[in-house]
Formats: sequence, C-alpha cells, structure tokens
Amino acid sequence: MTESPAESTTPAAPGRTACGIDIGGSGVKGAIVDLADGSLVGERVRIDTPQPATPDAVAATVAEVVKQLGWDGAVGITMPAVVTGGIARTAANIDDSWIGTDTVALFSAALGGVQVTVLNDADAAGLAEDKYGAGKDAAGVVILLTFGTGIGSAVLTDGVLVPNTEFGHLVVDGKEAEHRAASSVKEREDMSYKHWAKEVTRVLTHIEDLLWPDLFVAGGGISKKSDKWIPLLTNRTPIVPAALLNTAGIVGAAMAADSAARGSAQAQILASANS
Ligand code: BGC
Repeated sequence: MTESPAESTTPAAPGRTACGIDIGGSGVKGAIVDLADGSLVGERVRIDTPQPATPDAVAATVAEVVKQLGWDGAVGITMPAVVTGGIARTAANIDDSWIGTDTVALFSAALGGVQVTVLNDADAAGLAEDKYGAGKDAAGVVILLTFGTGIGSAVLTDGVLVPNTEFGHLVVDGKEAEHRAASSVKEREDMSYKHWAKEVTRVLTHIEDLLWPDLFVAGGGISKKSDKWIPLLTNRTPIVPAALLNTAGIVGAAMAADSAARGSAQAQILASANS
C-alpha cells in the first residue's frame, strides 16, 4: 500500500517507534524514536567510529549499537555520502572504500537480515527538522543545510524529500561551498563569526537564486550558537536554527526505516533512485 505525499504529514499513531542510527566521523549514535513526536525513547547509545572507518568495521559498530538498544526490527541508518538504491556513491569526508558499497546488504547482513534503509545524513536531518523541528510549521520549499566538517543539504517540499542534493559541493565564486563555509573552515582558519557569516551568506545567495526556497534551516553543531551568526546573514530567505540539534540524524533515520516498513511514497523515492 503506498501513501501519497500529503498523507505523509499525518501524525504517527502514538506509541509507534523505530530505530535510527547516525554514522558520523567521530561517533556512531543510535536510539529508538517515538514517531508521534520525534522524541527519543530511552537512552541514546554512542560508540566511537572505528578508525579506519572501513565498511566492515563500521557495520560491526552499528550492530553493537543496535544490540545495546535491544532492538530487533527494521533499522534506518545515515551516512555522510550520496546513497542511491542502497549503494554509497561518494565519500567526501569518509573512507574511500565506501564508494560502490552496497550499504543495505552490508548492514542487513551485520544485523541478522532485518530490513535496513540507508540515506544521506543531511537528508535524514532534513526529514526530522521538517516534521518535528524548525520546519514543522513551514509551507512550501524548505532547505536544511548542516554546517560541520562539510556542508550537507536537504530539500523538502511539503514534507517530501528530494534525496541526495549535494549543495556543499556547489562551486561558489570558484570554490566549493563547503571549502568556504563549513564550520570546520571557520575553526581551521580561525575566522570571526562576522567573516564566516559573509561566506555563509555568499553560499546561501547562490542556493536561493537557484531554488527560491521559503525557508532555510541551519543545522550542525554551530547552529547551537546561532545567535552569534544568523543575525549577521543578509539573505532574503528567512533562516532559522535547527531545533533537534544532535538528534536530527537519528530521528530522520528512524523515520526512513518506518517509511520503508510501511512502503510509503517517500520510501519508494529513497529506494529507487538510480537502481
Ligand atoms: C557530503 C554529503 C554530506 C555532508 C555532511 C558532504 O561532504 O558530500 O554527502 O551530507 O558532507 O556530512
């Protein structure tokens, strides 16, 4: 049974839960999520990302996180990569050996054959922010950007995600967006918020001129200090800080797992790309 995009905004029945795992450069984090409101059920489990972060090593860590959560159902997993038809296609800030890996087969085997959905990390955060967080009351086109080691992006229209946008790699005035305005650049080059905000404005200007969104949501760790830089941006599109902060990836991954279990239209969009 498929679900139309409009139906996908219907609140979940109270008590329905799903498991989400967020694979980052330093930690693999997971939790069980209450889909009625996007809150975590019980504790979040975090294990350091193994180094080198090869597919087999990361899959074993994911299995350990799921075991510690005591979960044996479908699992949603985020990766900092383009994932189409379950295959990782890029590795901008992760081990190159991921490219071409069938991530769904890898994680499903490590988890004893359960249904697995794998999606881009920023896409997961976008799903979660749009449904439960900073974008929940927004109509139209919402673009979430995560500012971290790189820049991740998610584009949603009325709750439906267009997966695998990679605005972090948009070339803005001769330089990739994430090499100008990721928060890692601010740190590395010891930039002031004022200087960094100019770079962020420059990147957002390119995006807003191409997509004309109704709202930008700024995510990533630096959104916790949004009062120091969001007021300095001079873009025409309203921009708000992410609300879920470090749980957005987990929550979005859980939403994707639940969509797959229900065979929703969004799950079909995520699963069928390029396959
Ligand atoms: C990757 C994206 C990812 C983002 C945030 C970028 O370098 O290309 O796929 O979403 O970093 O992790």
